[in-house]
Amino acid sequence: MAFEVTTDAAEQTDAAEQTARAALDILRFSFVHYTYPGASQPALNGLSLGVPAGKKCVLLGHNGCGKSTMFLHANGIFRPNLGQVLWKGMAVSYDRAHLLKLKQKIGLVFQDPEQQLIAATVAEDISYGLCNQKLPEAVVRGKVYRTMETFGMTEWAETPIHRLSLGQKRRVALAGVMVLEPELLLLDEPTAYLDQEQTRNFVQELDRIHAAGTTILMATHDIDLAFAWADWVLVMEKGKLALEGEPEAVFSRRDTLERLQLRTPAVFDVWEALPAALREEIGSSRVPRSVEELTAGLRRIAASCIT
Ligand SMILES: Nc1ncnc2c1ncn2[C@@H]1O[C@H](COP(=O)(O)OP(=O)(O)OP(=O)(O)O)[C@@H](O)[C@H]1O
Ligand SMILES: [Mg+2]
Repeated sequence: MAFEVTTDAAEQTDAAEQTARAALDILRFSFVHYTYPGASQPALNGLSLGVPAGKKCVLLGHNGCGKSTMFLHANGIFRPNLGQVLWKGMAVSYDRAHLLKLKQKIGLVFQDPEQQLIAATVAEDISYGLCNQKLPEAVVRGKVYRTMETFGMTEWAETPIHRLSLGQKRRVALAGVMVLEPELLLLDEPTAYLDQEQTRNFVQELDRIHAAGTTILMATHDIDLAFAWADWVLVMEKGKLALEGEPEAVFSRRDTLERLQLRTPAVFDVWEALPAALREEIGSSRVPRSVEELTAGLRRIAASCIT
C-alpha cells in the first residue's frame, strides 16, 4: 500500500488506519516546521511522518528537500520552530539529561564521516560516546573491543583516523554509533562515494544490525539500493512528506515520482517491460527486488526450456 500525502492527508488516509499505524512508529514527526536562521524558505514545512518500529526504511527526495534537516531534528540536535518530534509516542524533551539519553537511543551517522570522527585513533573514536556515559573503564574497553570485532576492525584499533580510506572511515563512524546500542539507526546517504564492493559489505553490516533488533532509516539517492533493501519507503518534497508505503506500491506511482523528479528502480522498469506471460512464468508474486533476483528467475525459465 502507498499513501500519497496531500494537504488533505487526513481525508485521504483513513483516520483509524493512521492512528493504528502511528502506534507502531518508533519515531514520529508531527507538523514539524524549521527555518534555518537567515534563510528565506523553511527547510521543514509541516513535516509529518512516522518511522515504523523494526523496519528497514529509506528516506528519498530531491536535493534540498530536507532529509538531513529531518535527521538533525530526529535526535534532538535541532529543535522545531513549530510542531513536535515524538519518540515512542512521547514528545521529545529538550533538556540536557533527556537529550543525552535520546542520543543513545537514536544513533545518527552523518553523510560526511569527517564531521563525525573526532578522536585520533579508531579505538579512541569508538569509545568516545561511551566515555560520555561515565561507565567504568573496563566496561568501555570490553564494549569497544566487541564492537571492533563485530565490524572486523580490530587490526585498525590504533590506526590514526586520517590514514583510513573513506569507506573505512564510514565503517568506523557506524561502529562508533552502534557501540551505544541504539534502538533506531539514522544513516545520511551512507553509500555515497562507496564502490560496489564496499556498498555490498556495508549493506550486509546493516542487515546484521537490523536482524539484531535495530530499526533503520537511511536517506539515499540510490533508487536501486532503496528498492532492493527497504521494506518501507518515505519520500519528501520541499520539507514535507509526499509519499510513503511499501517499496512496490511507492515505485508504482510513476506520475508522482516523475513530479518529484525521482526515477523508478531499473529492475522495476525491466519487469514492467516483460510480457505478462513471461512474468507469470517467472512465478514471482511481486516485482523482483534486484537484477540478481530477476536474472535468477529468467535463468530458471531458460533452464526449463532447454531440458
Ligand atoms: N546550514 C544551513 N543554513 C541555511 N540553510 C540550510 C542549511 N542547511 C541546509 N539548508 C537549507 O535547508 C534545505 C534543506 O536542506 P537539507 O540539507 O536538509 O536537504 P537534503 O534533503 O538533505 O539534501 P541533499 O539530498 O542534497 O543532502 C535546503 O533548502 C538547504 O539549502
Ligand atoms: Mg542531505
